[in-house]
Amino acid sequence: MESLDHPTARALLEFQIELGATDAICDAPVDRYALVDKPKPKPVQAAPMQPVAKPEVDPVAEARALTQSASDLAGLQAAMARFEHCELKRGARNMVFADGNPAARVMIIGEAPGRDEDQQGKPFVGRAGQLLDKMLAAIDMGRAHEFSAQSVYITNVLPWRPPQNRDPKPEEIAMLLPFVQRHVELVAPDLIVLMGNISCQAGLGKRGITRLRGQWTEAYGKPCLPMFHPAYLLRSPHAKREAWADLLALQARLRSDAGPK
Ligand code: URA
Repeated sequence: MESLDHPTARALLEFQIELGATDAICDAPVDRYALVDKPKPKPVQAAPMQPVAKPEVDPVAEARALTQSASDLAGLQAAMARFEHCELKRGARNMVFADGNPAARVMIIGEAPGRDEDQQGKPFVGRAGQLLDKMLAAIDMGRAHEFSAQSVYITNVLPWRPPQNRDPKPEEIAMLLPFVQRHVELVAPDLIVLMGNISCQAGLGKRGITRLRGQWTEAYGKPCLPMFHPAYLLRSPHAKREAWADLLALQARLRSDAGPK
């Protein structure tokens, strides 16, 4: 085709538009009927997705397997940190393992970390924890005591803080229970204190702390004493009288049972 200068090409184009042209066409004619009649290539069908069989995960069995490989507390802590089946781990800043003297005669099992514990990575360091320290000091005990007879070892049923401090779900307790069981085996305390309802739920399979508190029973194969949780005592100071009676019962039992481990 003869080349046109720009103003001529534009004038011709405008003329064609005035005549009603709406499409740019090629130099050679296109037989669109032939195009329509040609059998269209069949669209390629994507192969139907085969459902991928997800391996069934049993978090409780996995927790049990992990804990059995732990032969000491450091190993248990590392095993817990490798456990990926508890959603609470994703929202927590720190894993809260334990505090106190692993040689202590008394092991205290609380519920779960709160905000302060989550921040510091230690159990019972917030307001409830400070009250717990005062309660223990009243019977000449504490987590910092170097002698096993006066010291305590403190942990929780759950090592990760539940969002908004909500109650742990039964399945969360169940999957973390093997860790608590192994924890008790490794610390081998003489006595256990179950602090509050969640701890009783995990250790005894029942709640009802008002009825359970102060009654010696057995959990994790050890004598144990359910007590009011210090967070409850902060809200209900009138219950401190019962808490004091339970502390005295703990002290008396320690004195009457065989000496330090
Ligand atoms: N309450 C608990 O039960 N445990 C903690 O560590 C702190 C508060």
